[in-house]
Amino acid sequence: MKILIIYKSYHRMNTEKIAKAIAEAAGATAVKVKDAHIEDLTNYDLIGFGSGIYAGKPHRSIFTFIEKMTPTDKKAFIFSTSGEPKEEYHRLLREKLTAKGYHIVGEFQCPGQAGFLGFTFTSKGHPDEKDLQNAQAFAKGLLSA
Ligand SMILES: Cc1cc2nc3c(=O)[nH]c(=O)nc-3n(C[C@H](O)[C@H](O)[C@H](O)COP(=O)(O)O)c2cc1C
Repeated sequence: MKILIIYKSYHRMNTEKIAKAIAEAAGATAVKVKDAHIEDLTNYDLIGFGSGIYAGKPHRSIFTFIEKMTPTDKKAFIFSTSGEPKEEYHRLLREKLTAKGYHIVGEFQCPGQAGFLGFTFTSKGHPDEKDLQNAQAFAKGLLSA
């Protein structure tokens, strides 16, 4: 099974750490959304979409990419890091992917430290070693999806 991960991470590169952990454990290719090409999707069986959560949602660049995708019946998974993970943060992404015909086979959420101007607000030290292990366990589960 060929797996592609498309992600957006910019605040503290928390989501990139998770994307890389999943990629390593699942033997997947991880690319930043700005480097991802719609036409490459046909080469993969399972596509993962990951983002930090910004004002309650994944980054808009992920949605812009999804808008350009052609409908399919492929499998997809979703992951995110956020200051305080909440189930609802994935709702819009889930809806948009489902509308394109994707079957969501897994979701993973992880705390991600947020900090501004040297202040740390939430989830200090995350993702930590345990979070990365959880991401890898999630990735292994995907292989049997
Ligand atoms: C502009 C901005 C808005 C954020 N909004 C939320 C939010 O609504 N809920 C939340 O739990 N965390 C929020 N956070 C925290 C981020 O989701 C968290 O730090 C995440 O791990 C950042 O991912 P990244 O380092 O991959 O960019 C926000 C962070 C930034 C910079």
